[in-house]
Amino acid sequence: MTKNKNNQSIWGNRIKKNGSVLFQKIGSSIDIDKKLYKEDILASKIHVEMLFKQKILNFKIKNKIIYGLQKIENEIKKNKFEFNKKFEDIHMNIEKRLFQIIGEDAGYIHTARSRNDQVITDFKIWISSTTKDINKNLDKIIKTILKVSEKNIETIMPGFTHLKNAQAISFAHYLMAYIEMFKRDKKRFLNNFNSLSENPLGVAAISGTSFNIDRDFTSKKLGFKKPTNNSIDTVADRDFVLDFLYCVSVCSMHISRIAEELILWNSDGFNLISLSDKIVTGSSIMPQKKNPDLLEFIRGKTGSNYGNLFSMLTILKSLPISYFKDLQDDKELVFKSSETLNNSLNILNEVLRNIIPNKKKMFDLANHGYLTATDLADFLVQNHSMSFRKAYDITASIVNFAEKKKKRLNELSIDELRKFEPKLKNEVLKIFDLKNSVNSKKSYGGTSFDNIKKMITKYKRDQND
Ligand code: ARG
Repeated sequence: MTKNKNNQSIWGNRIKKNGSVLFQKIGSSIDIDKKLYKEDILASKIHVEMLFKQKILNFKIKNKIIYGLQKIENEIKKNKFEFNKKFEDIHMNIEKRLFQIIGEDAGYIHTARSRNDQVITDFKIWISSTTKDINKNLDKIIKTILKVSEKNIETIMPGFTHLKNAQAISFAHYLMAYIEMFKRDKKRFLNNFNSLSENPLGVAAISGTSFNIDRDFTSKKLGFKKPTNNSIDTVADRDFVLDFLYCVSVCSMHISRIAEELILWNSDGFNLISLSDKIVTGSSIMPQKKNPDLLEFIRGKTGSNYGNLFSMLTILKSLPISYFKDLQDDKELVFKSSETLNNSLNILNEVLRNIIPNKKKMFDLANHGYLTATDLADFLVQNHSMSFRKAYDITASIVNFAEKKKKRLNELSIDELRKFEPKLKNEVLKIFDLKNSVNSKKSYGGTSFDNIKKMITKYKRDQND
């Protein structure tokens, strides 16, 4: 019989020889899954309450077990619990300690359950609560973006396509594009609650149990909507893990896009924003440097989050259904991804509060690259009854001419313009005004100042809902 130092058997009478010490050391998951202690204890308490209600356990034993579990929870909270690799994981560590505290009656706790359903019950509860934390962090970012946007409704900059100056936009409109992304992230995370809300507890090892358990009771008490339908699928299913890791990946991807843009705009080439000293780091050799390390850090972390999603997909690929040890790695991946994402969101929030738009440079850059060319084409369609394609051609010729003359569109005289469309009057000149250009984009979702103000009000309302 394998004994631990307290002379307790680990696997009882079945396994006579000492297990591989090497495997004990590296195969034990306790260093990782001890994070689940609260969820594990809660689920165990509800489990024994249910066993008592169903007359499977008597009152005295139920109370003893709950007393022991409470004591264990306090010990862990106070860092007085000795986690032991010999007992593999959090479930066995708690069970073994329960034996020490209440004696042989601890043996009743594992009636009608298995670690296979236990672990996913704990895990689903944990993922649900981390999802709520992530969404709170997303809300904080949205709030910060709103604050910065409110101050920058009239900050005009070039909008880029292909990283070439395209059309004039408001800096607030640009920032608020990320509100939409982060709102979608929130929704994506919330969608997972459907699968997270099905209770695995009670499917036991693979086939269910012969005890007359009440899975609706445990579902209700643990905050699940309903019990899962198929015991085999339940034990094998880690789709909810994939869904979570995918949501993290998409959210990280959004973070990496904004990080990349801010890094570019902070570069000496663009110089569209500067970063306050709070969010830069120095160089060990170049005294002049202020580097955007925080942004680079969160951009880079997207890689590990994608990696975690791919690891889980690969672990599940071709794995026959039901439980295998392979699945144990799910927790490390989720814990890491969740921590990384929360850190990245917090860093991004700090960065966003400390960016300084270089308004003059933004405006100057928007004056390069003929950003109002589309406005001119639109004007020709709206005022000189021609098709858009014809207007496009005339405008293209005007742009070619301006380029040859090394002039901006607003530097062309009305006579020069009339060479291309004789009917043009002075009123056309206002088309080349950038503010006018931004404000003309009044279509729903466009960058006009009025639209932005309305969207800010809407987002604020959404935040309070
Ligand atoms: N620590 C295990 C895990 O996370 C718990 C389930 C163990 N089940 C088993 N049949 N060995 O996957």
